[in-house]
Amino acid sequence: MHFSTLILPAVLLSELAYGAVLDTRHNKKKPEEGFKCEGLEEGYKCHTDISRSWGPYTPYYSLPSNYKPANIDAECEVTFAQVLSRHAARYPTKGMGNKMKNVIQKIQKNAKSYSDKTKFIKTFKYELEPKYDQLTDFGRREMYNSGIKFFNRYKKLNENDEPYYRVSGQQRVIESGAEFSRGFVDEKAKSKKQKTVSLPHLNVIQEGRSFKNTLDHGTCREFEVGRYSKSHQEALDKYIAVFTPPIVQRLGKEIPGGDINGLDVVHLMGLCPFYTVIDGDKLSQWCGLFTPEEFKQFNYYQTLAKYYKYGDGNPLGAVQGVGFVNELIGRLTRSAVKDSTSTNSTVIGPVDRKIYADFSHDNTMVSIMTAMKLFDGLPKLDMKKMESTDRFNLADIVPFASRVYIEKMKCKSEPDELVRVLVNDRVMKLKCPEKKYGSCTVHEFVRGLKFARRGGNWDQCNA
Ligand SMILES: *[C@@H]1O[C@H](CO)[C@@H](O)[C@H](O)[C@H]1NC(C)=O
Repeated sequence: MHFSTLILPAVLLSELAYGAVLDTRHNKKKPEEGFKCEGLEEGYKCHTDISRSWGPYTPYYSLPSNYKPANIDAECEVTFAQVLSRHAARYPTKGMGNKMKNVIQKIQKNAKSYSDKTKFIKTFKYELEPKYDQLTDFGRREMYNSGIKFFNRYKKLNENDEPYYRVSGQQRVIESGAEFSRGFVDEKAKSKKQKTVSLPHLNVIQEGRSFKNTLDHGTCREFEVGRYSKSHQEALDKYIAVFTPPIVQRLGKEIPGGDINGLDVVHLMGLCPFYTVIDGDKLSQWCGLFTPEEFKQFNYYQTLAKYYKYGDGNPLGAVQGVGFVNELIGRLTRSAVKDSTSTNSTVIGPVDRKIYADFSHDNTMVSIMTAMKLFDGLPKLDMKKMESTDRFNLADIVPFASRVYIEKMKCKSEPDELVRVLVNDRVMKLKCPEKKYGSCTVHEFVRGLKFARRGGNWDQCNA
């Protein structure tokens, strides 16, 4: 969790205001070199037999939009665009990083021998501590590309207007917003054939248990530390007992004496994505210890964790996203935000803009999408058997640098303004009477967001 590592920085904030952070943190590689696996449109395109099964450590990739095409025809014009983005690929958090390190040390201390596949572990040096919680260079490129892609998708709007930016106050999120904005202004300059561009101001919302922040949960006591804080544990305990025993047994043979248990397996599997997203192109050697099917199970384990904590599996999951949904309603209807959950009136910002860009975390984004009813009607996820997770698959919905687009459009054949939602380029089915391209009228869409408009069940947070 991020509270323990709040590096928020008066310094960083004032630096940001002057754009200094942006100047000093440029990618080392130029857009045309390196990162062969990171495509501007399609996102991460290498090692796809496993790289889309890494749960929250999956690099962004564009989803096919089978339900309705993502693009619209000339009959319709986009009049409003909101992007809600997760920060990009990062090094492990301190908590997860230390767990992975401990497993490696335990193996190195106890192993009697190693198989060919595992012998690299014997001399492996784990050296990620100094980088804990920070974006990787590959992650910075993901955000830069995301800014370019967003500029081009909504080019007509973006050429004439600027996004209103808000970033949650952890360094990697602030920096993700900064890299996105850099990609955006570079592309805009290119499009307008201008040389000089100025970088935008990013409005920072502080994180922590005493701050209301619609981009990062923290103030709902029963959810944070009370009776709904461990609601995902049962699912994790059950599913780990299902999928890890064969792996434990195999690694027991490959590394006799290694003393590897089920939870160790989960941590060892995490090393594969974490070491891969540092550079982006080269698959980490840790990945070779597991099969594609096992990574699917790893992804399901991670999916269960989020679903039963931040999604519909927790009675207080969705309400963590209600504040943002109410802000969105204000922006879509250009009217004052009505909310008594996690909004802080001083950082809501204007509601009369055409373009918005917000930067957040996977956890709160799962709650927001749930509060938007994007997963409504989905039966509870099975704790003991991997299900087809077409509609709620963590790698699909909140990979690193994932992005939700909410777009309004005006179509010639429709008197009313329409709105639709795309998650990583996939048009989502909404809970309102359907119009063109998977949209609803703004009026019906807002009507369908009853749960959020009524404040969800926030009253249970501090009951
Ligand atoms: C609301 O935001 C302001 C400005 O960032 C901050 O000073 C204040 O502490 C915040 N209040 C809460 C309850 O989050």
